[in-house]
Amino acid sequence: MEQLDIKNYGLREEPELWKIIGNSKEIKEVIKGIQTVLESDVPVVIQGETGTGKELVAKAIHYRGPRRKHVFCAINCAAIPENLLESELMGHEKGSFTGAIQQHIGKLERSDMGTLFLDEIIEMPLAMQAKILRVIEEQVFERVGGHKSIKTNVRIISASNKELLDEVNANKLREDLYYRINVFRIFIPPLRDRKDDIPELVNVFVKRYGTLSGKEINKLDNPVMDKLMSYNWPGNIRQLQNSIRRAILITTNDTLLPEHFDFPDLGENDLRMIESLESGLSTLEAALRRGEVLPLSEVEEIFIRRALNATNGNISAAAEKLGIGRSTVYRKMQELGINTEDYHQ
Ligand SMILES: Nc1ncnc2c1ncn2[C@@H]1O[C@H](COP(=O)(O)OP(=O)(O)OP(=O)(O)O)[C@@H](O)[C@H]1O
Ligand SMILES: [Mg+2]
Repeated sequence: MEQLDIKNYGLREEPELWKIIGNSKEIKEVIKGIQTVLESDVPVVIQGETGTGKELVAKAIHYRGPRRKHVFCAINCAAIPENLLESELMGHEKGSFTGAIQQHIGKLERSDMGTLFLDEIIEMPLAMQAKILRVIEEQVFERVGGHKSIKTNVRIISASNKELLDEVNANKLREDLYYRINVFRIFIPPLRDRKDDIPELVNVFVKRYGTLSGKEINKLDNPVMDKLMSYNWPGNIRQLQNSIRRAILITTNDTLLPEHFDFPDLGENDLRMIESLESGLSTLEAALRRGEVLPLSEVEEIFIRRALNATNGNISAAAEKLGIGRSTVYRKMQELGINTEDYHQ
């Protein structure tokens, strides 16, 4: 597949990071799907377990297709409280509800001419689903508290880790919306069903994260690959990627050994937490090493996530560690799209 020159398109994403790695016939089928829908505007549904690369595939469609010069916006319908979702998507006018102290431009408007990625679409409340349906059918919407109809031209890509038709039958997804978004489906099989991809993924990740951590890992013992090949990867590529990052941090020389990998029984939320925590920490580490300054908001996010992790998700205890009020932590979590319902108040 053609690689884009990032400088020519003013993209903020690095191509390296949205390169789809793998050679199995399953992943080739995924890439074929991407190529099929690339040039058109047909809505796409991407289905796969957590960590299989749904967002990566959505970005590949956007950044390799004709909309690449415009904005790619993602919204996780499961992470945003119901009452904020409409404003996040459609925006709001000043004074339209308590707390709306200024006008807000929503993601539908920001991704005009670009792509809107509706992650975990089935978590979207039914009333909101009706509004999205209208956007797809008529390409218009109104900001919360606004009267003017706003035209938008966005490509909608949706993702789900469940079978959408089951959700229609369970009345969680509107049938009419289902038919609108599900024009083309890309299914990403779990990693355990395409183990042929593991060696290449391992090699690329070892190189990538070795370089990032300043270690040159040039030896991967056979027993290591055997161990990685025989594990079933419930957290899929994300878990593989994180296991390698952790192993590289642990090793004291240039060799990865089987004992650098141990696979705890992690739930889905734990896996997500580890992902965001580790990526934050490595951003911070890299900036410190290079003597750079980071925006305070980024530093803040890293420590908020760290405090929540250290206190096993107890918001009050995290607030105490951070030296700020509980309601401030709560608000910042909402701003960061962290689902506060998953945490102890
Ligand atoms: N084929 C692949 N090649 C390279 N990297 C991949 C591949 N698939 C996934 N990844 C990486 O794995 C991580 C998880 O992928 P992504 O966030 O797209 O998964 P997801 O399906 O959206 O997960 P979730 O359902 O938990 O949101 C990302 O860092 C992504 O870049
Ligand atoms: Mg995702």
